[in-house]
Amino acid sequence: MSSTTIDFDVRLVTESKLPSVDFNHIEFGKVYSDHMFAAEYEEGEWKNFRIEPYANLSISPANATLHYAQSVFEGLKAYKNDAGEIVVFRPQANAKRMIISAERMCIPPISEELFMEALTELLKLDAAWIPTKPDTSLYIRPVIFANDPYVGIRPSNTYKFLIFTGPVGAYYSEPVNVKIETKYTRAVAGGVGFAKTAGNYAASLYPALQAQKEGYHQLIWTDGQEHQYIEEAGTMNLMFCINDTLITAPAGGSILDGITKNSILTIARDWGMKVEERKLRVTELIEAFEAGQVQEAFGAGTAATVSKIKMIGYEGKQYNLPTVTPVADKLLKEMEDIKMGRKEDVHGWIYKV
Ligand code: COI
Repeated sequence: MSSTTIDFDVRLVTESKLPSVDFNHIEFGKVYSDHMFAAEYEEGEWKNFRIEPYANLSISPANATLHYAQSVFEGLKAYKNDAGEIVVFRPQANAKRMIISAERMCIPPISEELFMEALTELLKLDAAWIPTKPDTSLYIRPVIFANDPYVGIRPSNTYKFLIFTGPVGAYYSEPVNVKIETKYTRAVAGGVGFAKTAGNYAASLYPALQAQKEGYHQLIWTDGQEHQYIEEAGTMNLMFCINDTLITAPAGGSILDGITKNSILTIARDWGMKVEERKLRVTELIEAFEAGQVQEAFGAGTAATVSKIKMIGYEGKQYNLPTVTPVADKLLKEMEDIKMGRKEDVHGWIYKV
């Protein structure tokens, strides 16, 4: 169980929005819970730790983030397990990654302790917002952004750290079609691809829209130099089951180090599955398709969980994946069982609020 040591000012809503929410039809990212955590970085320190009603912010038109995207965020989920306890999946890993992202973006890092305690207080307060139907959860969005009203280029001197939450359903409600992108680039080595920062997502919008016009849901990004190696999908890491081996690209400069992906690799290794974290050439994947060796492909991410891929497009050709997906199904169930407390949490991934 958690205990907190940081003092938070708490201001509660006068009227909860909860009765207006239709928990039978929850979409991803449209509804937000009653409260949010907020803090400011000013005069060289993080301060003003508080929980207050979720509300719009007032910012300067010259706000540095609006212009130059000096911001980082995270995504994680809370659940109610079978015993009715509030649990979060590996939140310390999100805190650590947010600190890594912040460093790359010249943002003064928050402490892991602040992240965890703010999250804990917020979840205790808005526990009633955690949905319980299958495939639902309370999505948690921590974000830190530059707040100087200054249009010159330099790291901001002031920042805001917010954590807000909202009940969500599945990000992808069905298996997805993805296109291997060979023209546009998401990230390059030496850039900010490993950081969870706003610009990575903005840069992906135009290419993704082009692919959507061709009937794809998402892109498979390839390396920015030669477009020869598989990277990630922007909203999720990618995993391929080829010849009974689970293959995924190694995290590195241009790929986000996914917490769901890492958990899946650990589970698969625990099962004795052959796992390879290595560069996968597009041509190797296509040859494996042509030889009938690609058994499954899926994305792994917090929002996406395990998202099955039904078709991959490459240079005008479409490669269909089997509809029977024992590995993805078993992994999904294992993750669900760990979160719900049906299986022992041998790796210590579950944080109880
Ligand atoms: C997440 O999986 O939490 C993400 O951050 C993806 C998001 C951009 C929808």
